[in-house]
Amino acid sequence: MPSDLPPRPIHIAPSVLPADFSKLGEECAALEAAGVDRIQWDVMDGQFVPNLTFGPDVIAACRSSVQIPFEAHLMVNTPEVLLDRYAEAGCELLIVHAESTIHLHRCLGQVREAGARAAVALNPSTPVSAVEHVLDLVEMVLVMTVNPGFGGQAYIATMEPKIAELRRLVADRGLDIDIEVDGGIGPDTVAGATAAGANVLVAGSALYRDPEGLGHAVADLRARAEAAQRGAHAA
Ligand code: DX5
Repeated sequence: MPSDLPPRPIHIAPSVLPADFSKLGEECAALEAAGVDRIQWDVMDGQFVPNLTFGPDVIAACRSSVQIPFEAHLMVNTPEVLLDRYAEAGCELLIVHAESTIHLHRCLGQVREAGARAAVALNPSTPVSAVEHVLDLVEMVLVMTVNPGFGGQAYIATMEPKIAELRRLVADRGLDIDIEVDGGIGPDTVAGATAAGANVLVAGSALYRDPEGLGHAVADLRARAEAAQRGAHAA
């Protein structure tokens, strides 16, 4: 992250992909107790990505289990068709993939009309330029650090220059936009992503595999990210 840019608050947004799907409400409550800032639902349709996960009713069933916000990562084709349902289910932030709709600008406007906050996601091969004309519509840009569809994949470190490019673009335009990263984020990778400019961290596997439990994993990830921000800012 360019040292002339003020660091943005670190937010931990766990993926529930590794959670026990037979008790998702309890799993959300355990994440909230562990100190996460919000919960990300990885919505997959089996078309945009080769996996199938949560419909809006599943998310709605978990809404009352926690107080923290929900966000829906819409890894789906034609997100326009269902996005209103995810807003109604209690997702306060909807993340639309730039690659998933022909009319991205209109789709992000539809998210805002549905009463949700809008964000846009970029797959690894998609350039920052794909979103430069919709930055005025979003509060966050998600830079995927894996190819979407599954948890537990290896972090793609070559996304760090892309994160830095996006951070610079957002700063040069004076926009109040978070940068989220998703995929392979853990103790060994969070510093690179954060130093490049990310401040919202999606993690799944790394949180659930910590032998000291979710609370330790969340605190450790946050501490490592904040240390990396301080280092980058001091550089
Ligand atoms: C990919 C998913 C994953 C998940 C987090 O489509 O979006 O990135 O949220 O996965 P890991 O286990 O890598 O943190």
